[in-house]
Amino acid sequence: MSLQRVTELHQKFFGTNPTTIVFAPGRINLIGEHTDYNGGFVMPSAIDKGIWVSGRVVDGETRVFSDVAGTGRTFCAQSVELGDVTGWAKYAAGMAWVLRSDFGPMPNIEATVVSNLPMGSGVSSSAAMEMAFGRLWEAIAGFTIDPIKLALLGQKCENQYVGVNCGVMDQMASACGKANRAIFIDTRSLEIELASVPEEYALLLLDTKKPRALTDSAYNERRTQCETAASLMEVPQLRDANLDLLLEKKQTMDELTFKRARHVVTEDVRTTEFKSALSNNDAKGIFALMKGSHDSLRDDYEVSCLELDAMAESAWVSPGVVGARMTGAGFGGACVALVKKDSVEDFVEVCLAGYLQKTGKNGEILVCDIAEGARVIS
Ligand code: GLA
Repeated sequence: MSLQRVTELHQKFFGTNPTTIVFAPGRINLIGEHTDYNGGFVMPSAIDKGIWVSGRVVDGETRVFSDVAGTGRTFCAQSVELGDVTGWAKYAAGMAWVLRSDFGPMPNIEATVVSNLPMGSGVSSSAAMEMAFGRLWEAIAGFTIDPIKLALLGQKCENQYVGVNCGVMDQMASACGKANRAIFIDTRSLEIELASVPEEYALLLLDTKKPRALTDSAYNERRTQCETAASLMEVPQLRDANLDLLLEKKQTMDELTFKRARHVVTEDVRTTEFKSALSNNDAKGIFALMKGSHDSLRDDYEVSCLELDAMAESAWVSPGVVGARMTGAGFGGACVALVKKDSVEDFVEVCLAGYLQKTGKNGEILVCDIAEGARVIS
């Protein structure tokens, strides 16, 4: 559907036929939140919703057009520098900029972007955009790049060109996703283990419809608090600590720093245990670990909000629930739920009614298929 849409839009806007079309998925993180910038473990899945980009080489400057955001700034892909491009085109410009260091100057292109990712719900449209432009230039310029390297370049684009200090989870999920699998990532070694999501479970995105707000400053503040905790514990990163060490060092830090660190060290344990629970189809374990993650993000890390708590609480008592929690950076956005496939309809009805009753707001629930990572599709 969107393949056709991106082709038609490209023809309409540029008056030409694209030579290449790529797709990059958004992601839902099942567990392992705010651990990636601490060298820890995450367990996301790439989803069937994402970003399609069509492109072809041109002689003039690079021109980009998006169905949602309209015309972006033009730039020269061969010579673009830091700070040259603002607005949404910086994701494309930033990818041309990072790819140049390893693969030489990128050819100029005209490109059309079509997205079916819900905006503001924390499913990583920026990482999907980076992975899509990476794969597009790879196909058009004729070099090859493995998914992990692509993810690292995407993170560099986001950190240095776009100016957002994220970890590597979102780009890794969008680049390395596998159909019907959750990917357990050691964000330090970048080793990946795939775990099947039991066939009888559906993956649901429970969108609170509260857009994520003030995320950048709070996110950076959390990162600094984690670094402080690690240095007080005399370890390189919180990944290298555990609860025993944290309790031993409790006297050296203030209460807030202690709570932040307690979230991260316990979340790493929950994520590792979740990998086993999922592989063993241990529904009780899945429920407890996802709830434990949400509770810890709410109480210790303090990145939840009224809407995310209301949605999670409603999900926990809805029919067919296997597990649910907030997903992504927090402060708005969405929860994730695993739900028995034969109960999805009932779950959606009861969960949304509970959310409405608690908040007076209408949420939205999307059933997602677990998809392959960023790829050329035509
Ligand atoms: C955002 C960042 C990720 C990760 C999550 C929290 O999505 O982009 O790198 O830190 O927040 O788990």
